Amino acid sequence: MISSNDLRQRYLDFFAKRGHAIVPSSSLVPENDPTTLFTGSGMQPMLPYLLGADHPKGTRIADSQKSFRSQDIEEVGDNRHTTFFEMLGNWSLGDYFKKEQLPWIFEFLVDDLGLDPQKLYVTVYGGDQQYDLPQDDEAIELWQQLFASKGVDNKVVSGAREKGLQDGRIFSYEGAANWWSRAGDPSNMPVGEPGGPDSEMFYDYGEERGLHESSEWKDQPCHVNCDCGRFGEVGNSVFMQYLKTEKGFEPLPQQNIDFGGGLERIASALADDPDMFKIDLFTPIIEYVEKVSGKQYEGEHLISFRVIADHMRAAVMLMADGVLPDNKDQGYFVRRLLRRSVRYGKQLGINKPFLAPLAEIVGEIYAEPYPAVKQQVESITQAIQAEEDKFLRTLERGLQEFARQTADESQLTAQLAFTLYETYGFPLELSIEEAEQQGLKIEENIDQAFATIKDQHAAQSREGAAGKFKGGLADHSETAVQYHTATHLLHAALRKILGDHVEQKGSNITGERLRFDFAHPQALTDEEKKQVEQQINDWIAADLPVTNQTMEKEAAFAAGALAFFGEKYPDQVSVYTIGSDPANDWISKELCGGPHVEHTGEIGAVEIFKEKSASAGVRRVYLRLK
Ligand code: SER
Repeated sequence: MISSNDLRQRYLDFFAKRGHAIVPSSSLVPENDPTTLFTGSGMQPMLPYLLGADHPKGTRIADSQKSFRSQDIEEVGDNRHTTFFEMLGNWSLGDYFKKEQLPWIFEFLVDDLGLDPQKLYVTVYGGDQQYDLPQDDEAIELWQQLFASKGVDNKVVSGAREKGLQDGRIFSYEGAANWWSRAGDPSNMPVGEPGGPDSEMFYDYGEERGLHESSEWKDQPCHVNCDCGRFGEVGNSVFMQYLKTEKGFEPLPQQNIDFGGGLERIASALADDPDMFKIDLFTPIIEYVEKVSGKQYEGEHLISFRVIADHMRAAVMLMADGVLPDNKDQGYFVRRLLRRSVRYGKQLGINKPFLAPLAEIVGEIYAEPYPAVKQQVESITQAIQAEEDKFLRTLERGLQEFARQTADESQLTAQLAFTLYETYGFPLELSIEEAEQQGLKIEENIDQAFATIKDQHAAQSREGAAGKFKGGLADHSETAVQYHTATHLLHAALRKILGDHVEQKGSNITGERLRFDFAHPQALTDEEKKQVEQQINDWIAADLPVTNQTMEKEAAFAAGALAFFGEKYPDQVSVYTIGSDPANDWISKELCGGPHVEHTGEIGAVEIFKEKSASAGVRRVYLRLK
């Protein structure tokens, strides 16, 4: 078995032989890009060159780029999601294109690394009628030839994942599935953003392992993009050739290639083991955690081991790039990674500080490709130690208080859990665990009740009692109603642009403006503010109907309705939906008492004129009618 370090080197050598300049990984913290906190793909540092700037090293570049995707923190725990990873890249900046790149990458995977071509499957772009973009027939033909050259069947299947594999080898998907840009779908891309069709490569871990049958998708047929884990994506060739414009898409001045292959995922395929955490970039961490916990990785504790292995590797790599635990910006995520590691350590029964030695272990893993980690091992160790001690003290105070407050109780209530959280930063999960250990009863649906109290508290502390009633409206004047619907649009736009972690924490309307508080870890960039404002104005310009329905509470939640203000909702609730079809085509759906405008066009153009922090982890945006 070749090591991951050798694999990385072999990849770089392969492309060096084909005329590529090898460039070092950029930092995990983007240097000249204020629009994003982390480098989350190999493409990010290459952006100016894809748009046409001259790269000092020429038109063929290869690299292994360190990447961090904060949005995946909660996903970690299955056999392949990680927050930190390395992306093996090869770049043509207006140089070669598909007919060179696809054969090369196939040659690398099959001839150089020795992956069995029978186990490889690919997807290609099926076109997009909305933007008048054609199916990628050239890629289909190239793949057909490549598979045929190895004597592998090469059937092309168009679309219809719900029909399963259908003996296909090459799958063509219409729409967004095989389109790549930093913003995702063509419709999400801001003007000026480059993107293009892509072709993804998957390794089949085999039906016989039963990954699909034991997954939550077992009732649907498996396909290459299925989330059951049978197929692992090993690479993605993006044919970066379009620029988003006001009208749609226009060709970039040059045709580029952006290939990205997850180093860890390729290593996993080479080992023919779908559990990515078994590769050598994780084993030293896992072995160490096995030692301090006295528990085995295989078995009931898989998730805790994986979370700690992922989070600590990511935290150390981020710290090596200069990010320290903090309550804002990049540092907020390092703090979260460390605190989550402490908590998952507790689940393994570890009740003492244990994270600091991992700085050295991770430094050792990356001694060869990233010696800077090892060089900073002392300061990283100290930073981890300080953060872990601080968090453990918080936990300890919380535990003492927990013991005091529950001494005469037989039940853990949401109210008590909230007091512990509010006063001592003691997380709900720990209150529950502690209550279980002490044999206390736990209030039914404590999660929900806790969330309700938390929201009520947030609403009260921010808004005071004055002039406030249902829906946060100060009066029913026409302007207030316009602002009320704008609140829903703003909420939907923030979630669309920033992510689903955005949750309304409060709102307040006067005749002059709307104020809106929401959960988000850092300040909005100018670009984000612009995108949010543009999105709202687009929805207003589309004059979408606003409709009201009374529904069963459960049905409303099942339909995706949002609810943040902490009343205990009655069984029948009022739901406001914005969009042309309240069942199938909508942009906002919220539990709300109203009133609202009937069509978004009644609001008229709006602008965001201020954005600031409201409290830790909560931002405040001000918006007014233009
Ligand atoms: N940019 C593409 C991706 O991240 C390929 O590098 O998948």
